[in-house]
Amino acid sequence: MNTDMATQELWQRRLSLFPITAAVQPSPRQGTPVLTVAGCDLEALAHAHGTPLYCFDAATLDAAAAAYQRSLAAHYPGRSTVTYAGKAFCCKAIAQWTQRQGFWFDCTGAGEIAVAVAAGVPQQRILVHGVNKSDEDLDAALRHAGTLVVDNLAELHRCAGRTQALAAMPHLWLRVRPGVAVDTHAYRQTGQEDSKFGMSPQEVLQAVQLCRAHSLPLTGLHFHQGSHFHDPAPIGPALDTVLHLVAELASTTGWQPASLSPGGGWGVPYHEDDLPHRDVDAYVSFVAQRLIEGCAARGLDLPTLHLEPGRSLVARAGVALYRTGVEKHSATRRWLPIDGGLADNPRPALYGARYSALPVRAPQRPVAGTTWIAGPFCESGDVLIEALPLPLLEAGEVLAVPVSGAYHLAMQSNYNGARKPAVLWLADGAAHVIQRRETIADLLARDADLP
Ligand SMILES: Cc1ncc(COP(=O)(O)O)c(C=O)c1O
Repeated sequence: MNTDMATQELWQRRLSLFPITAAVQPSPRQGTPVLTVAGCDLEALAHAHGTPLYCFDAATLDAAAAAYQRSLAAHYPGRSTVTYAGKAFCCKAIAQWTQRQGFWFDCTGAGEIAVAVAAGVPQQRILVHGVNKSDEDLDAALRHAGTLVVDNLAELHRCAGRTQALAAMPHLWLRVRPGVAVDTHAYRQTGQEDSKFGMSPQEVLQAVQLCRAHSLPLTGLHFHQGSHFHDPAPIGPALDTVLHLVAELASTTGWQPASLSPGGGWGVPYHEDDLPHRDVDAYVSFVAQRLIEGCAARGLDLPTLHLEPGRSLVARAGVALYRTGVEKHSATRRWLPIDGGLADNPRPALYGARYSALPVRAPQRPVAGTTWIAGPFCESGDVLIEALPLPLLEAGEVLAVPVSGAYHLAMQSNYNGARKPAVLWLADGAAHVIQRRETIADLLARDADLP
């Protein structure tokens, strides 16, 4: 392959990581081609709103939602719900978008519950998770949620102790630890036997007895084996464990879950080397088929199937924009400094997450070498992208990082006094601010003088 073809192929693969509306169009100002999303010139947005800047493409979000809806309708017709895992990216606008899709909204703790309530998510669509819920979390859940996923026996006792004060109690589901994790980074595995999440099958049996003794509205079982997996196979043995438990419960207590959730966790491609990637239908069809077969084999009623995706709904819709500084060279590396990184996206430092990027202006320029893209923060681990083939970039250019919609802003910090970036909603050529940039005044707002 000659150099031009290699550049072209690399560029095409990289562009396909961006939102579905991404295109390269001549800039109205200079005529130079620029990267656009939803018809919006990303360079103009960076100029108008400052960097780092996060942009979400409405069309990509809608397409991701439609893919789940289509697959569930095809493989598990009539009895399914999608719950958006708010932990991936939580703000009022995204919660309101989930309501346009008819989704439930999964909250972890009182803070996310407050966002869901402020966004107008109806009570019956608020589902609450949490591994060690505080009293505030539990009280908010009992007050605002339609469904509360109980993590452990102690929490169930705390719920039972609070029921008298309640006019209506949310549905309770029990979180099972199935003893099988999915294939992902150890920090994102949750289903293994020694995980901190959920209850062993033995504890679930006790929990069911307790619910019956206290007449608690137990309606479902839940498990989640980890996040960002590409092979659904480990869901098979986990479903077997859970359905075995259900069969035992059905024969000993007569209780069967009306709802069953194998959580979320379907992965996405972040880098051109991750392509091609299996689409969501491979995951949904696998889960649906194993559930249908597992219930039939044990003579169990088919429950409503709840899927709980976060990343696979929002990751691709998000693009992070940074402004470049002056290139620097160390013994073996060419460094491209940018004005964000660890504070708005801790994933590379947390578990070696690998990203790609394109310059916003003239993104098809030929590659000039391997670049290490680093943020301004006082940690050597603040390297957003390692060893990425890139063109030469001048200081002051805008760099776009695709697949930035999940677990960036949800895990961002004010390290080194960083102010959290503005977030834009892009649709039909227009950009709307859905979260404003933090100000110095915001940073100081919680501080008090020394007495
Ligand atoms: C209980 C639960 N459900 C759903 C999710 C969503 O996972 P993902 O964003 O990978 O789909 C998570 C994330 O870890 C989770 O802990």
